[in-house]
Amino acid sequence: MRGSTVHSAQRGGQAPGRSWRAGACQDAGVGFDQYHEPAEELSAETRTFARLCASLTEEAEAIGWYQQRLSVEPDGEARAIMHDAQGEEFKHFCMDLEFLLRRTPLWREIAQGILFQEGDIVEHGEAAEEEATEGEEARGAPLSGGESLGIGSLRGAAS
Ligand SMILES: [Fe+2]
Repeated sequence: MRGSTVHSAQRGGQAPGRSWRAGACQDAGVGFDQYHEPAEELSAETRTFARLCASLTEEAEAIGWYQQRLSVEPDGEARAIMHDAQGEEFKHFCMDLEFLLRRTPLWREIAQGILFQEGDIVEHGEAAEEEATEGEEARGAPLSGGESLGIGSLRGAAS
C-alpha cells in the first residue's frame, strides 16, 4: 500500500528553506514526518534511507490491516481480493527491506543471523548483534550512537 505519504516523501528533498523539527513540517498540510532532523541538513542518501524506512512501515501496517480485514470478511470473493492485495504488500515490504539491508551492512549482518533461521529468535538476535558489532569494532568501524547501525557510511556521502 502506498498511501498519501508516498507523494509527500517524493518531495522530501525539494524544500530546503523550511523549518523541520520533531518529525513535523512547519508548513501545515505537507507531510514530511519521516524526517526527525532538518531535511536540509540530511544527505540525499539519508533522505532516501528515511523514505524507505517510512515505506517499510507503511507496508507493514498494510499487511496488518489486510490481516484484520481477512479475519472478519465472510465473503469469499472479497477475501480472495484481499488475500491477493496482502501478497502485494508482502512483496513491497520485502523490497523495501532488501534495499535498506543492502545500504546498511551492519543491519544486513544482524539480519542474516536472525532471518530464515530455525530455533529461538531472541537467542539468534542476541548472538547476531554481538557477532556483528564485534566484527565491526574489529574492523575499526564506529559504534557510537546511530553510527552503530552502519548508517554512518551513508552520511559522509553527497549531501
Ligand atoms: Fe504496498
